[in-house]
Amino acid sequence: MSDEPDAADHASADEQARYDQARYVENGQYEPLLSEKDQTRVEVGGDDSPLPDDLTRDSIELPSLSEPELARHYTRLSQMVYGIDSGPYPLGSCTMKYNPKFTEDVAALPSGAVHPDRSEKSVQGTLELMYRLQDYLGRIGGMDAVTLQPPAGAAGEFVGIRVAAAYHEHNGEEGRDEVIVPESAHGTNFASAALGGYDVVSLPSDDAGRVDLEALEAALSENTAALMLTNPNTLGLFERDIEEIADMVHDVGGLLYYDGANLNALLGRARPGDMGFDVMHYNVHKTFATPHGGGGPGAGPVGVVDELAPFLPSPRVREADSTDTETTYELFDPEHTIGKVHGYQGNWLVLIKTFAYIARLGDEGLTDASAKAVLNANYLASRIEYDVPYEPFHHEFVASAGDQDAADVAKRMLDYGVHPPTTKWPEIVPEALMTEPTEVESKETLDRLAAAFNAVADEDDGTLESSPERTTARRIDQTSAARNPRLSWHALEDGEE
Ligand SMILES: Cc1ncc(COP(=O)(O)O)c(C=O)c1O
Repeated sequence: MSDEPDAADHASADEQARYDQARYVENGQYEPLLSEKDQTRVEVGGDDSPLPDDLTRDSIELPSLSEPELARHYTRLSQMVYGIDSGPYPLGSCTMKYNPKFTEDVAALPSGAVHPDRSEKSVQGTLELMYRLQDYLGRIGGMDAVTLQPPAGAAGEFVGIRVAAAYHEHNGEEGRDEVIVPESAHGTNFASAALGGYDVVSLPSDDAGRVDLEALEAALSENTAALMLTNPNTLGLFERDIEEIADMVHDVGGLLYYDGANLNALLGRARPGDMGFDVMHYNVHKTFATPHGGGGPGAGPVGVVDELAPFLPSPRVREADSTDTETTYELFDPEHTIGKVHGYQGNWLVLIKTFAYIARLGDEGLTDASAKAVLNANYLASRIEYDVPYEPFHHEFVASAGDQDAADVAKRMLDYGVHPPTTKWPEIVPEALMTEPTEVESKETLDRLAAAFNAVADEDDGTLESSPERTTARRIDQTSAARNPRLSWHALEDGEE
């Protein structure tokens, strides 16, 4: 970046944030599991159980710990990992946002936990909340109709693609068998299109990092079912030609899909629906600060324009009746629905948190959040030594680690008590460090982050390769950890890997 980081930005990282993660070791092993702590056999059940004998037992081993022992166990475990409650977590695109605690309180209200089989009449408050959330999301995205069912952003993509497919089929356009995806897109876009039954056409970026209009022209045809795009894109760049892109896609009869992952850059300022998008998903963990679903137990609502509304999953919520004093709500099946994509109404407690966050921030707060997200990303980028080749960016930027290995940079940043950015993606930037500080971090925290980036930028390969050295778990074999996970927390026996 053009602004010169001053000496204090990188000389002081170690002093400012000397970090040593806790390592609780007892008898040669890390904090034992509860089941490895004191066990007591407790009598349970009894002769009066209505269950068959082979499904019951008379006693069970349970940890018998006092409250302080239990509290210490979980506190110790929490100190041996890094999380958003420990420090900044600037994962670009995958965004781990701080989840305000008040949303947890709202979701924990006894009235939130209604049994999903309750009659519509007895859960009017819940239905109203769903209806209002559909409405909020529709207005924020510029969409006419919304389903709350999909359980993650990626699941929302799949649903959006299935809705697009149903729309084309309904119009006798089964021949459309291609979905175009920019090469810089998130991997889930390619996967959702392929899983939705489409051939995926990969679209190159232009030299400035945006959609290459000539390449788009060449890719579009009567076979095009949709173009999937996120805006700002994964480099944080706003697609300035978005209206022209929308016209080009619509002119060949295709639909424009919005990956809502980066909507936090636009909140309160611009709407995908106004840019010409026809269908979108909302990543509520990224935009509205709910816990990340890890592909499942989160939420990824989908919004569509009027023409696509009849194909949305069932059921949705609508007003049944309205008088001067009372409005009642009901579930309904859209006319040509693609069917159910989740049990009942999706992950309801996550959706309550989404509602609470939007309601608490309101128009002004959401608009302020996008301003701060963009400001924070730009401030941080101006303080770091690494080159940021593509600008002007919005809520996230992609720096290049240059001659260093981005994965080593990430490991070493942990030693300075900050979480590293997303690495090695998008590939358009060599040794990418994709960074999104989010709107919640203060200037002091951003300075600490910058200091960590700059300290690592000055370090030699030997130091980087042997890092992290101050965390509970040191350098792990990532491939084996993913392919052959060991899911219990215990010391290795001889010969065990
Ligand atoms: C650009 C983009 N699209 C889609 C997704 C998928 O969202 P989710 O993780 O909620 O499935 C992500 C990941 O968070 C993303 O960064």
